[in-house]
Amino acid sequence: MKSYQKLTTDVSQITEAGEEGADGKPLCHQKLSAWWLGGGLLMVATLLSGVTVWVLGQIWWDQHGIPFWSKCTSVPENRRFDCYPERNVIVTRELCEGRGCCFVDSERPLDRMKGVPWCFYPPDFPSYTLGSMNETDLGMVGFLTRKTKAYYPKDIEKLHLSVEFETDSRLHVKITDATNPRYEVPLDVPQATKRAENPLYSIEFCKEPFGLIVKRRVSGTVLLNTTVAPLFFADQFLQISTVLPSTFLYGLGEHESNFLHNLEWNTLPLWARDVPPAESYNLYGVHPFYLLMEKGGAAHGVFLLNSNLMEVVLQPAPALTWRTIGGILDFYIFLGPDPNLVVRQYQQVIGFPAMPPFWGLGFHLCRWGYETSNKTWEMVKAMRNFQIPQDAQWNDIDYMNGSRDFTVDSERFASLPQLVEDLHKHGQYYVLILDPGISSTQPPGSYWPYDEGLKRGVFINNTQGKPLIGNVWPGFTAYPDFSNPNTHRWWLENLNRLHALVPFDGLWIDMNEPSNFIDGSTEGCSQGELDNPPYVPGILGGFLSARTICTSAKQSVSVHYNLHNLYGLMEAKATASALVEIRGKRPFIISRSTFPSQGRYSGHWLGDNQSEWKDMFWSIPGMLSFSLFGVPLVGADICGFFKSTSEELCIRWMQLGAFYPFSRNHNSQDEQAQDPTAFSPAGRTAMKEALELRYALLPLLYTLFHRAHLQGDTVARPLFFEFPKDEATYALDKQFLWGRGLLVTPVLESGADSVTGYFPRGVWYDYYTGSSVNSSGESLRMAAPLDHINVHLREGTILPTQKPGGSTWLSRRNPLRLIAALSQNANAWGDLYWDDGESLDTFEKGDYSYLVFNVMQNTFTSTVLHSSVEATYITVEKLSVYGVREEPKTVTVSGKDWPFTYLTNQVLSVSDLRLPLSQGFYIRWM
Ligand code: GLC
Repeated sequence: MKSYQKLTTDVSQITEAGEEGADGKPLCHQKLSAWWLGGGLLMVATLLSGVTVWVLGQIWWDQHGIPFWSKCTSVPENRRFDCYPERNVIVTRELCEGRGCCFVDSERPLDRMKGVPWCFYPPDFPSYTLGSMNETDLGMVGFLTRKTKAYYPKDIEKLHLSVEFETDSRLHVKITDATNPRYEVPLDVPQATKRAENPLYSIEFCKEPFGLIVKRRVSGTVLLNTTVAPLFFADQFLQISTVLPSTFLYGLGEHESNFLHNLEWNTLPLWARDVPPAESYNLYGVHPFYLLMEKGGAAHGVFLLNSNLMEVVLQPAPALTWRTIGGILDFYIFLGPDPNLVVRQYQQVIGFPAMPPFWGLGFHLCRWGYETSNKTWEMVKAMRNFQIPQDAQWNDIDYMNGSRDFTVDSERFASLPQLVEDLHKHGQYYVLILDPGISSTQPPGSYWPYDEGLKRGVFINNTQGKPLIGNVWPGFTAYPDFSNPNTHRWWLENLNRLHALVPFDGLWIDMNEPSNFIDGSTEGCSQGELDNPPYVPGILGGFLSARTICTSAKQSVSVHYNLHNLYGLMEAKATASALVEIRGKRPFIISRSTFPSQGRYSGHWLGDNQSEWKDMFWSIPGMLSFSLFGVPLVGADICGFFKSTSEELCIRWMQLGAFYPFSRNHNSQDEQAQDPTAFSPAGRTAMKEALELRYALLPLLYTLFHRAHLQGDTVARPLFFEFPKDEATYALDKQFLWGRGLLVTPVLESGADSVTGYFPRGVWYDYYTGSSVNSSGESLRMAAPLDHINVHLREGTILPTQKPGGSTWLSRRNPLRLIAALSQNANAWGDLYWDDGESLDTFEKGDYSYLVFNVMQNTFTSTVLHSSVEATYITVEKLSVYGVREEPKTVTVSGKDWPFTYLTNQVLSVSDLRLPLSQGFYIRWM
């Protein structure tokens, strides 16, 4: 029998009696009991079958006198934790047992294909042993001692475990080398100063083998139990597993997958990579964070603060394994209990997202291959001509001279400065692409970015200490090392020079995984362990430098091996501070590669999709995942990047894209044009209407971004965030909400004239007409002609909307229309954040207006909680109240009788109000 102690969060209580799990067995003992019982039964069965002699020949005993065979067969399939995850190795019994693991040669080849491991840890595989724990100001610390000879090099003998009760809803668990410092992610995370007083969690430790159990106090739900598989902590192989309390798991990006993850033996690799999105690939960004819905509607989240190449294995137990090849195990656990709170608590660690400029929420148009500034200008004029809203025109790499950063082709793009001037005159904006690779082949003295970069030593070096040379659009390139503060200075100076030529307003930072068209470098990579680690997770290509630079490359903070996944984040940080310095206004940046805390500096687009219906669908789970990751400014290339779109697909996609928080139509070169002006009059009109709908809703969207910036609320929101007790919402990823009350149900199939959507219990109002449906929590089919996207208002919501204009510069001056959707108790609530839309830190400086809208007892009230001059420029023109059950006899506006209309679908409208937004008012109906 193993010895174990349970330590509770109250360290004065050290007890030998284990807490019971769901099956009534002590959790630390669960493994032991499970295999004794299962193994015993199997032994009896085998004996009875008369093959005892054969069986005895197969059995040997471990040091505890327990037959190895019975231990192995007793482990249920879904609880097998893979002992031989190496790919490209045929795992034989000999190899497997060489690791001290169980080998069950499955006769069902399908099992292998499904991913069920046939070499797995026996229940008592030795791991680390926990010594006594000591109390600290913030929690507890202790040491772990290695008990087993493991099979990866440089196993660490003694580990330091610290557990900090940082807040009542946040627990911080850190395991690292007790003797030698190791690489840790250079991210500013908040340091707790005092121990949580009333934590929502309790924590227990199993001593031998070491394990950690975290429970939700109120329900006793086991959120984490790492006793189910051994802990590994070798220099380049760190692994920890846990069972999960449910299969409702989200997050862990960046991947193309359903929003709700599949736990049927699903391995998710996390390694920044330039590749057109496809299922099971590691994509552009890395987000080691998951959110899980527990039974009953509570949620928790787990963040592994680690930037090394890793993979996360999901299995149907349900269980999860983190496997990383560097750094330390640094976990934050967020107890919610509401999913909105989990995401907020996560962002309290990684940082809340930046407030975007108002124009950044307008419509953006781009393509690769406009070819000339005149053709780009024609595009802008065509959009204006058809009065289709557009805020920003973009150019891709074709504006550059030979695809070289910080240059402008002086022939093809000769009129670019005039185009930008024209955009600015019309209150529109201009965004440029930049790639990190700096051309290294120009004659000395002819290309300042490289010459000066060399001089200042800003490039990433190879193992010989020379700039590592890869190959991107301009040919051979060096890569700026954004972990070096000198590089930020040099980047700023380059941007300043470019801005003097072309006064761009925002930047699109692409190819920053960083991408490299040759694997590693022109000279290949080293043979060492940084380029060829002993274990390689299941990444695309199978080796670390696939389509990127050598991981042995040297950066100022550490080796690229550790920093690879941070490249896009560090570039975004340098770019954001440069833009602030150059323009003195809120930066607008869209980045392809991302890492936790990215939202503080940039938004993200979902990369090189295709003009396919399924790609349009994938954008919804992609967008919702980035909401979880604290990057609310997200969208996909509307109408698809590769391939040519059809008019029908593009109309539907423009309708959906009108609800991406970041809304940009972008197209690849040599494909047919797909901007709204490229289609039939009917198609063009449908697209224009979709954009006008977006522009009408921008006051709401902007307010949602303020709430994201202020406290980490999501903007595009999964339904279950608002209805966490309704399990029917858990797998929904064809619909989503904006904030708490606007439900979007797009058409995602060709040839459809109707769409089915789920409506959680309650009254929902058609956004356009105010007609209502009282749902019992059901799926409803709705008409969806090609020129219509279904949008519904949740009961109890008040939306600020604005008359749309051709750009936000125009629409921001227009009067507001407020829409109140009454709850069944005839109440509603909403708010509006308003400022100049572009100055830095308006909230922090108090230069904003904040209004709260209420309906109670047949009275709509607008209350100004904070006011600034911008709110004096606009008026409230109209109020529509949905769900007014009886026709009122009179309506008064701040005490004065007012004309109104009332429709049989219970919509009350009061128009021509001309009320200044900056002053409170009330409207009463009787
Ligand atoms: C990358 C980007 C794409 C861009 C292209 C050319 O593929 O993801 O959006 O158009 O490079 O710069």
